[in-house]
Amino acid sequence: MSNKIRWGVLGGGGDSLIGVLHRVASSMFDAYQLTGAVFNPDFEANKGFAEEIGIPTNRIYPDFDTMVAEELKLPESERIQVFSILTPNFLHFPMAKKLLECGFHVICEKPMTMTYSEALELQQIHQKSKAIFALTHTYTGYPMVRQMKKMITEGVLGAVQKVDVQYYQGWINPIIHDKEQRKTTWRLDPSKSGISCCMGDIGVHGYQMLEYVTGMDVQSILADLNHLYDDNQMDIDGTVLLRLGKYTKGVLRASQIATAEENCLTVAVYGRKGALKWEQENPNYLHHLEDGQPIKTLKPGNAYNSNLSLDGTKLPPGHPEGIFDAMGNIYKGVAKAVRNQPHDPAEFPSMRDGVRGMHFIETCVASHKEGNVWKTL
Ligand SMILES: NC(=O)c1ccc[n+]([C@@H]2O[C@H](COP(=O)([O-])OP(=O)(O)OC[C@H]3O[C@@H](n4cnc5c(N)ncnc54)[C@H](O)[C@@H]3O)[C@@H](O)[C@H]2O)c1
Repeated sequence: MSNKIRWGVLGGGGDSLIGVLHRVASSMFDAYQLTGAVFNPDFEANKGFAEEIGIPTNRIYPDFDTMVAEELKLPESERIQVFSILTPNFLHFPMAKKLLECGFHVICEKPMTMTYSEALELQQIHQKSKAIFALTHTYTGYPMVRQMKKMITEGVLGAVQKVDVQYYQGWINPIIHDKEQRKTTWRLDPSKSGISCCMGDIGVHGYQMLEYVTGMDVQSILADLNHLYDDNQMDIDGTVLLRLGKYTKGVLRASQIATAEENCLTVAVYGRKGALKWEQENPNYLHHLEDGQPIKTLKPGNAYNSNLSLDGTKLPPGHPEGIFDAMGNIYKGVAKAVRNQPHDPAEFPSMRDGVRGMHFIETCVASHKEGNVWKTL
């Protein structure tokens, strides 16, 4: 009998953006077996998709509540162990809450919840459970982001003086200028997305990335957000000033109307002794800058990288690692945690990242609405 982890999927159907990333990532290290799902709220489409990708339909359920109830009737040795929540944002909290209360491990897409208070409630439920909770801030799974984290936290840059994270996309530009489309896109609907579009969808990735690579907490922020039409006031662009310490400041810039930009996430950290710069669209290159020296470029798979970075590299140097590999590394870390095997906590983002992310999103909106004022996190 297979000793793979029995894995269930919520959302992520054939009509989704992110489903394929999770399915490929889960299969990458042969650790998970896709066992059951509610891929889609429409039962026929749900079963049809299961048939299309060749998985048995006996554990394809009409809805989430039925899925949990039926799985709980099964002996533990057959029951799904880990659920991934890949639905639109408004379903993350109710699904994660019930799953943790019933003892299932959870892999959840970001943003973790709709509100900060839901995030705090989920944290309490998690603390009472023995379940693993992982949040898929995918970009932390890249080997060179992991290397950046290790170099900064081991002091290679010295004291951090300046941080700069940018996440520019352009996909909302054609949508926002079309009255019908801006009414029907779920990310622009606060009842499905939460109070923020840009900061909730991508600003939060940049924020988590900064805290991840520096190992520092952002202490206060001042946000200036933007929308283009008064009939949809969800932010689709914004700039946030950051203070991470008395002498550590920086900026987070995020936009979904940066015309024709694709997925331009960049992070730069400048310290007393040097700087590190990384770009999501060229993820295999980590640039190390030092005063008076030529720029050094570090690449995945080389022995000079940290164990955390090397653990996320499958082939010898020169074989590019991409977004699927990054998500695969997060799934690999969760599999170790589920199997109670030793692992570095940096292998997957946690409940703490989710709680801090929700606090960041709400505080950005509050800072902006109150007239661009400093707010403590
Ligand atoms: N980690 C990342 O880099 C990243 C990237 C993209 C999206 N996301 C996150 O992933 C989530 C999904 O985003 P997406 O772009 O794939 O959305 P999407 O709209 O493309 O897909 C959503 C999926 O959920 C299904 N669904 C909707 N209601 C459901 C229900 N009640 N039960 C079961 N399934 C249901 C839909 O049928 C669809 O298959 C969002 O929270 C988003 O923020 C994360």
